[in-house]
Amino acid sequence: MKLKPVTIVGAVAVAALAASVLTLAPAIASDKSAVTADPSTQTLRELSARHGLHLGTAVDLAALSDADDPQYRSLVASQFSTVTAENVMKWDALEPTRGTYNWGPADELVAFAQKNGQRVRGHVLVWHSQIPTWLTQGVEDGTITKDELRDLLKKHITDVVTHFKGKIWQWDVVNEAATDPWDSPSNIHYKGFWAENLGPEYVADSFRWARAADSKALLFYNDYNIEAFGDGGETDKTTFVYNMVKQLRADGVPIDGVGSQGHLGTQYGNYDALQASAALKRFTDLGLATAFTEVDVRSEMTEEVKAGTSSEVNPRLQASAANYSALLQACLSNRHCLSFTVWGFTDKYSWIPNWSEDKEGLANIYDENYQPKRAYNMMRADLAFSGPPSVQPRIAQKPKR
Ligand code: XIL
Repeated sequence: MKLKPVTIVGAVAVAALAASVLTLAPAIASDKSAVTADPSTQTLRELSARHGLHLGTAVDLAALSDADDPQYRSLVASQFSTVTAENVMKWDALEPTRGTYNWGPADELVAFAQKNGQRVRGHVLVWHSQIPTWLTQGVEDGTITKDELRDLLKKHITDVVTHFKGKIWQWDVVNEAATDPWDSPSNIHYKGFWAENLGPEYVADSFRWARAADSKALLFYNDYNIEAFGDGGETDKTTFVYNMVKQLRADGVPIDGVGSQGHLGTQYGNYDALQASAALKRFTDLGLATAFTEVDVRSEMTEEVKAGTSSEVNPRLQASAANYSALLQACLSNRHCLSFTVWGFTDKYSWIPNWSEDKEGLANIYDENYQPKRAYNMMRADLAFSGPPSVQPRIAQKPKR
């Protein structure tokens, strides 16, 4: 974190300032030696530092604390400058029983990040998924009323943001509030538990409650399938999200950024870097920061792919790499794109096979044996062979009131 020259009276104030500054890893200063070093020997973390960009990964806490898998831990530390908890900061993990918090695993990740000079993306305060059963059950059977539900959400946000205060760089405050064109009706609208029970106002409320608990964290709206704009019509999810965040800003809601998850698949058309860059620009023209927050690029696992047939596997690896590269180049092109986070880095712990019942896989930048894939080197090349005038250092975002 860069300090503006300020005059502070009294040792207490200096100490207090130092303490508040120490909790977040410093901004990445451009390092001349990093620029002259041979890119082929440099990590993602080192190469992204050239641009002041934070390169991150989601972290699986079970893998991180697995003594039999030290490679996982060492790669998280060496390759990445920001981390996101894959699951342990979600509501069902933090408060499995009403009123009893389980901070342990999340605290462990924050401590790991601090030890390794990494920043933390907080994920996630409000989402319709992975919320505790006591909450959904209570609403269903009427023992939790609508008024009480709003109070519970406020308390959750306040407690969690307060617990991690000063240690979180960016919070995903609201996640996945919008439908997809394949939902019914196909015009994009608010979806899920919170919208159904509290109405769309929960979005603005959540940002206000988060800001009240931490005046310095950057507050993000996070969603998938918003990597590029569509036709601007009723089924264009990116346009829906754009209009939503624009309105939030107009209403004075303290939102600082939009997170584009970046869950892509090689079986889809996807986007090129120019389309994704144009989308980021529209968001940042609103005065918001952006980030890619959960990038992975899955492929269909046909029988041939499972058997390792190279004529089937290779094009998928190449297409996957091209997609990672398109999003990374887009991020590099925009000085307000602050971080690029992959949703796990090794196929060993990828959520994709689980989620797709083994129909999809190969989504990450290292294979199951920690061998870097084409995507890993393509990303490193993007970071190494770019710079001014097209790629400029990041511009820090000031938290909105
Ligand atoms: C996923 C995790 O990776 C899985 O381990 C878990 O079972 C389900 O959630 N969008 C999000 C993430 O915002 O929190 C999701 O993470 C992936 C989709």
